[in-house]
Amino acid sequence: MTAIDGLQSTGRSIPISRIRELANPHMGNKNLIPLWFGEPDVTTPQFIIEPAHQAMLDGKTTYNEGLGKPWLREAIAQYMTGLYSTSITDDRIAITVSGTNAVNLAFQLLMSPGDKMVTTSPSFPTLMTVPELQQAEIETVPLTPSANGWSLDIDALLDAASTAKILLLNSPNNPTGWSLSLDEMKTILETCRKTGCWIISDEVYSRIVFDGRAAPSFAEIAEAEDRVIIVNSFSKSWAMTGWRLGWLTLPPSLIPECEKLMEFSMSCAPEFVQAGGFAAIQHGEPFIAEQIARYRRGRDVSIQRLSTMDGINVIPPHAAFYAFFQMEDVTNDVELAEKIAQEAEVGVAPGSGFDPSLKNWFRICFAKEESLLHEAFDRLDVFLSSQ
Ligand SMILES: Cc1ncc(COP(=O)(O)O)c(C=O)c1O
Repeated sequence: MTAIDGLQSTGRSIPISRIRELANPHMGNKNLIPLWFGEPDVTTPQFIIEPAHQAMLDGKTTYNEGLGKPWLREAIAQYMTGLYSTSITDDRIAITVSGTNAVNLAFQLLMSPGDKMVTTSPSFPTLMTVPELQQAEIETVPLTPSANGWSLDIDALLDAASTAKILLLNSPNNPTGWSLSLDEMKTILETCRKTGCWIISDEVYSRIVFDGRAAPSFAEIAEAEDRVIIVNSFSKSWAMTGWRLGWLTLPPSLIPECEKLMEFSMSCAPEFVQAGGFAAIQHGEPFIAEQIARYRRGRDVSIQRLSTMDGINVIPPHAAFYAFFQMEDVTNDVELAEKIAQEAEVGVAPGSGFDPSLKNWFRICFAKEESLLHEAFDRLDVFLSSQ
């Protein structure tokens, strides 16, 4: 008998991420082109690494303020104020160890077991699993594909949210690239103000947009004490996935509660990591612009190559760095993704990881060099023509 035999816990009842499960056995294959994870193929730029390195050399290796260093909270408040032409104050910012940690904290702050949460589907798996771990009663409202892009029936969303405690939105969306317009956000906020429903807005792809400087944000329209929590991350905009740094924007009245909870999960984000984050916020705009130009090329290559393959339907995304596509005549996405990984040596994420009903959908991350993407699509072409 092992220690785990007979163990029942909420954690054990949660299934392993389908992408992880699929990718794990292939992690050692250097010839495989991994398009299944959501991260760019560039590593963090030097202007972010150097101040972090210096901070370590300077002995910034101890515990620090639970809510984060005041200079980073202030820099983020100014960054958001400038980006959204609004006023965000540093007393609303909490520095977290990643967007994932920020999502967990938001749910810990708001949820009790049995509370109803509404969100859209398909969805980044963490956004379903975290509320599940908190024993939420989850209702999903579908995003619907059409030739013009993905859309959401806002009335259906608001109807579902009318009896919910939390409305979780992820715009720009992983995996579809769908985004809410500012007008839709206003309608949602006005309705939630009436019903008292909390909005958790996951905006980690706010800067990965192909028109304009940033996607619409609830930061632009919410008052400080509105029931709105915004989740952000350094991972995607500044190629910092491995640093594990993010932030929450909260009503000031929730900040002491947040600080209390943070103590019991990560205590504080490492100061040297925050020094890197500070450099990203202060000096990162040219880097973001460069990356968006690369992602645009990656998107164009991916859409062009996928749309010329037989039996594949793909909708060009306006934001985030994913192509989410449907393959005709496929009934088991996980099996096919496994075969593609083994035989074509390309890592694609199965659609059912984002919504169990999407068994003939797949996601690739196109935040990669064009030549690598072409190689991946050449391999896919050969694989699909041999089937
Ligand atoms: C929608 C969404 N939210 C949150 C995250 C978490 O990002 P991180 O934990 O790297 O900050 C991701 C990562 O892929 C994501 O796609």
